[in-house]
Amino acid sequence: MKKLTALLLILMLVFSLAACGSDPQVTETEPETSEEVVNTEPSEEESEATQVSDANTLVVYFSMPETTNSDNMTEEEDNSVVVIDGEVLENTQYVAYVIQENTGADIFRIEPETPYPTDHDTLVDLAAEEQDNDARPAIKDRIENLEQYDTIFIGYPNWWGDMPMILYSFFDEYDFSGKTIVPFNTHGGSGFSNTINTIAELEPGSTIDREGFTVSRNTVQDAEPDIIAWLETSGYTK
Ligand SMILES: Cc1cc2nc3c(=O)[nH]c(=O)nc-3n(C[C@H](O)[C@H](O)[C@H](O)COP(=O)(O)O)c2cc1C
Repeated sequence: MKKLTALLLILMLVFSLAACGSDPQVTETEPETSEEVVNTEPSEEESEATQVSDANTLVVYFSMPETTNSDNMTEEEDNSVVVIDGEVLENTQYVAYVIQENTGADIFRIEPETPYPTDHDTLVDLAAEEQDNDARPAIKDRIENLEQYDTIFIGYPNWWGDMPMILYSFFDEYDFSGKTIVPFNTHGGSGFSNTINTIAELEPGSTIDREGFTVSRNTVQDAEPDIIAWLETSGYTK
């Protein structure tokens, strides 16, 4: 009888150990907190690519830094960047960030497959050459979830009185019919030039906000209040 009881006890122990062993496999697949599921905030690293969120506004921009170091900048390098709280940002990039922050938009950076040179004179010559050749430089990434956006802010620097040619590649690649395009740009004195009309020609099916927002590289450093005021008056703030 004692032997039978001992056998029964051993059997019970074996079963209970086997049951414990299978538990973690079930619970490990569960999220540890509900935050993991609902948190769609982009991390800093992710913020340069389109995000999976429910935003219906997208900020797209192209910007070209001529330096990433704020020490001993040449005049040209200084012209091409803005230093905000010690961080070096490109002029158009900074405007894009302020728009994103105040509209709750997703953000997509247009980047060339072949990086542009950072040396000013080489960049200026290449940009002129691209324009002369009506070039269409290849873009590195794609906006995968375009259908979810109805308002698209598009920002670029003025290059040789026009958009950089990579913006033409961008408008060739996407059809924004039925969507609203809101242009913004930074410049060294030329404002938008004729670029708003050009965008309207390239995207005939879209509604273009013809006012847009344009700011000189000389004042972009202090432009945040103006950008916010413009977003508020135009009804774009979140
Ligand atoms: C290749 C090149 C061409 C430029 N051409 C013009 C121009 O025709 N008119 C103008 O106002 N600014 C011109 N600029 C100045 C830029 O528009 C200005 O520095 C802009 O703020 C740069 O923005 P980013 O830092 O976002 O690239 C040019 C700059 C570069 C690099």
